Amino acid sequence: MDLVVRNASLPDGRTGIDIAVQDGRIAALGPALVVQGAREIDAGGDLASAPFVDAHFHMDSTLSYGMPRVNASGTLLEGIALWGELKPQLVQDALVERAMQYCDWAVARGLLAIRTHVDVCDERLLAVEALLDVKRRVAPYINLQLVAFPQDGLLRSPGAFDNLKRAIGMGVDVVGGIPHFERTMAQGAESVRLLCEFAAEQGLRVDMHCDETDDPLSRHIETLAYETWRLGMQGRVAGSHLTSMHSMDNYYVSKLLPLMRESGVAAIANPLINITLQGRHDTYPKRRGMTRVPELLAAGIDVAFGHDCVMDPWYGLGSGDMLEVAHMGLHVAQMTGQEGMRACFEAVTSTPARILGLEGYGLAPGCHADFVLLDAATPVEAIRLRAARRLVVRRGKVVAEAPSMRAALHLPGRPASVDFRIGR
Ligand code: FE2
Repeated sequence: MDLVVRNASLPDGRTGIDIAVQDGRIAALGPALVVQGAREIDAGGDLASAPFVDAHFHMDSTLSYGMPRVNASGTLLEGIALWGELKPQLVQDALVERAMQYCDWAVARGLLAIRTHVDVCDERLLAVEALLDVKRRVAPYINLQLVAFPQDGLLRSPGAFDNLKRAIGMGVDVVGGIPHFERTMAQGAESVRLLCEFAAEQGLRVDMHCDETDDPLSRHIETLAYETWRLGMQGRVAGSHLTSMHSMDNYYVSKLLPLMRESGVAAIANPLINITLQGRHDTYPKRRGMTRVPELLAAGIDVAFGHDCVMDPWYGLGSGDMLEVAHMGLHVAQMTGQEGMRACFEAVTSTPARILGLEGYGLAPGCHADFVLLDAATPVEAIRLRAARRLVVRRGKVVAEAPSMRAALHLPGRPASVDFRIGR
């Protein structure tokens, strides 16, 4: 075998598991494998997980914080306006460089698949060209999936639909949208229909920014679910954000959830950004704004978490750590029971992998040998500690390593160091 990892714990609760890797795939997985590896690593009971997956990101704007100025109000709308100021000043090389730097961070965090929206409301399609270039460059170590995103509105922004079609023709993978940003509810619904029909025609997946507002009457998710069902696109469509669901009437939601379930539409929440941008028009009490994660899960709907923004016009923090995203998600959704916390780990690993349609994802024989060894024993401990990535493996090769988290203590009568872990 090229590589054998001994004595790992898995997210499903199995312990004492060996993982044997050959030719970039997992050849065998189980207790006490009788195989020899060219390289053998002792996991020491630590958690091996399939890699982190970010279901929702904006790589064209990442690491541009402060360019040309910071978002003074902290609102979504000022962020969009600010991005509009920055867009004409974008230079392809600089954009590629920022995206490549972010991808370095992602790999170090064990984040090996990212769905990024790319703004197509720019005649030059400069960001599209840049991110297609980045996609090619990082392909050996990151699955980068691009969504054609009409940031300024499909119908509201002249030429947006043509640009979106051009972007798809250039190799962008997924059809995006932003119905709540169109001028009227009717135009929002019309944009959803047009985009879903186009995606169905082209055999593409759909992922729309949908109802990213505190307005309880923003109901474009209803249209998105209906169009998905009408066009037979079950399992290929996601609604991102869906923050208006936080504020919707409960009776209406009781009718909406079964429609979403029957349509096979997935939900993507962005906890760090939703808790930051929503509720900005409220005085007190202030709404949290994140969509109804536990209720969606209970209804049998896939829910993934995305990072959305890192150091850009909307958000001045972040470092590509999907455990930080899961940590915020479980707090905002009050999913602090053991089952809820484990679901939040799945929301940054296996669930987005399903939404992106990743081939060969998972920890099982035959899957790609892509995994991350965490400085934690369980998914819950990994979230609690935002655990260090001891080892990140892509196609059987170690692509990143980090030391375990440990602090030296200088206290009389107390241990020489602490590692923040319990029971070992
Ligand atoms: Fe977004």
